[in-house]
Amino acid sequence: MTAQSTKLEDLPSDLKKELLPKHVAVIMDGNGRWAKRRGLPRIMGHKRGVDILKDLLRCCQDWGIKALTAYAFSTENWGRPQEEVEFLMTLFQRVLRQELREMLEENVKISFVGNLLALPNALQAEINTSIEETKNNHGIKFNVATNYGGREEIIQACRAIAEKVDKGLLQPNEINETTFEHHLYTAGNCDPDLIIRTSGEMRLSNFLLWQSAYSEIYFTDTLWPDFDRSEFKKALFAYQQRERRFGKVS
Ligand code: FPP
Repeated sequence: MTAQSTKLEDLPSDLKKELLPKHVAVIMDGNGRWAKRRGLPRIMGHKRGVDILKDLLRCCQDWGIKALTAYAFSTENWGRPQEEVEFLMTLFQRVLRQELREMLEENVKISFVGNLLALPNALQAEINTSIEETKNNHGIKFNVATNYGGREEIIQACRAIAEKVDKGLLQPNEINETTFEHHLYTAGNCDPDLIIRTSGEMRLSNFLLWQSAYSEIYFTDTLWPDFDRSEFKKALFAYQQRERRFGKVS
């Protein structure tokens, strides 16, 4: 980890511990623009983005947030220039290998959501190693959405359920929200309380479509490579001002 960490007691005094989200999800947008503004190649924005993500993970641990999900690569991102896609795949692989020891020391439990079988074999191997090695950790849960698309996730869940019905393992009237959630990539996770998207874009871009039904969404103009702890604190502060009614009245 490159950035300096603080400890749990360093939760900023204007944030209330009891009102922290349990699960934060991030759409890390703006890496390319950040690099372009500095006359750098786009990949430099992604590299800097990794440092920001690592510090955010540390910050979530320090401040007592239980789960962090990061949108690293969408099913649509394959349409980027081939060299950028290749760079990202190699970057994911390298970061996983480099950070495994620290994740073990820090008790991080990593998991991945998305269609992993379409990823390069070497990356799949690194992913499997990191899942296996951290599976007994019980600290923060770190979910990486890789080759993830919300629509694709819903379709594969429908297909898996249909196959069970076809084989007589499930009755159609047994399909409910709980059954459905068990077939999503995110099975076993709680829904995100707070979704943050950086860089001024105001949309979900196929991220956690089912799971975001009652998430609070925070948009900021800040580009991902500039999204430091003070920006995260602002997002949490905004979240704590909101009244979550889940369709009910106050
Ligand atoms: C979007 O910015 C960013 C991405 C598609 C990649 C995000 C990935 C990381 C930060 C690396 C994460 C690493 C691990 C190991 C989880 P953009 O390129 O669309 O930016 P732009 O909109 O300014 O062009």
